[in-house]
Amino acid sequence: MGGTFQIDEAQFIKQAEQFQLAGRTIAVVKNNAYNYGLEFAVKAFAISGIREFATTSVDDAVKIRQMCGPNADIILMNPTTDFKRARMFNLDVTLPSPGYYDTYKEELKGLNIHIEYAGLFNRSGLSDIDELGYILDDLKARNASLNFRGLWTHFGYSDAFDGIYETERANWLEFVRDVKALGVEPEMIHAQNSASYVRDGIFDGHSHVRLGIGLYGSKPYADLDDKDFIQSSVLSAPIIQFRELTAGMTLGYGAAFKADSDCRIAIVDIGYGDGVLRRRAGYECEIGGKFYPIVALMMSHMAVLVDDNVTADMNVYLYNKKLRIDKYTQLGVGANSEQLGALNYQSLGREIIYDV
Ligand SMILES: Cc1ncc(COP(=O)(O)O)c(C=O)c1O
Repeated sequence: MGGTFQIDEAQFIKQAEQFQLAGRTIAVVKNNAYNYGLEFAVKAFAISGIREFATTSVDDAVKIRQMCGPNADIILMNPTTDFKRARMFNLDVTLPSPGYYDTYKEELKGLNIHIEYAGLFNRSGLSDIDELGYILDDLKARNASLNFRGLWTHFGYSDAFDGIYETERANWLEFVRDVKALGVEPEMIHAQNSASYVRDGIFDGHSHVRLGIGLYGSKPYADLDDKDFIQSSVLSAPIIQFRELTAGMTLGYGAAFKADSDCRIAIVDIGYGDGVLRRRAGYECEIGGKFYPIVALMMSHMAVLVDDNVTADMNVYLYNKKLRIDKYTQLGVGANSEQLGALNYQSLGREIIYDV
């Protein structure tokens, strides 16, 4: 087994409670709920009071419906062609382009539709208001209508402080005004991810914020207080054995580590195959309350330069309260979601600590 990803449920719920905007939060639970586990996270978010969820996967959306019952709102952020299940499980769908509308306008009838605006992020969505005009004209010409329940975008620059987010935000707010000017009045308007919400609070006229990483307890950008982001997860692994190296000896593929002097190495049961990013291994781990350098990372193993205080029964920590995921984001290891998303859900053990 390649280590254990442990989550403290009470802390996870506390973070969801303290970060959400009560009654107006859509929780983003894509990618196995940022690898906290879809079922665990949806249940914990529901306990914290959240009733609205967004994901990219129809399979996950169906699971959420089965868990939450008829009263939850579930939004598919990817365009779907699985209209059968969208209808059967009352899933809200995304309208990403005029081309999609042209192809599926019949199938879209009766579904709750959220119009997506591409904006500067430009991954998907309408490019400008004329594209919505085209769709509305076509509906009018055919004497048809669709249920435009929502309007949304995603900000790609909300953690940037060089002025580009301000442009992105202004473009979006202008698009919202233009949509309303065309007579479309969606009941749900949701654009803001964690960084945008922390910076600006909810925008005027918006019904919801659509939050991911902040709900999961990592800071969306550096200059924020740790206490506002409770990291409920711990990643640890056991020591398999020790190697005593004399000066000049090497260890690992291509002599990844060369001993400058006599030293002691702990071999730990976790590696990049379990989702530890190579750049994360450029920093320290914690054993028995002390920090030690990781000196080599292999697929299933990690080598740590230790001293005589470390014994075989000690756990090696890669992420915990002192080794915060967002700290390594700041150090350039990878985005919070990249570090979490890399974790190998199949090879890692999972442990949920429940409050008794
Ligand atoms: C479309 C969309 N909305 C919202 C979010 C949530 O963003 P964050 O985790 O930064 O809060 C994401 C995350 O990638 C996303 O892709």
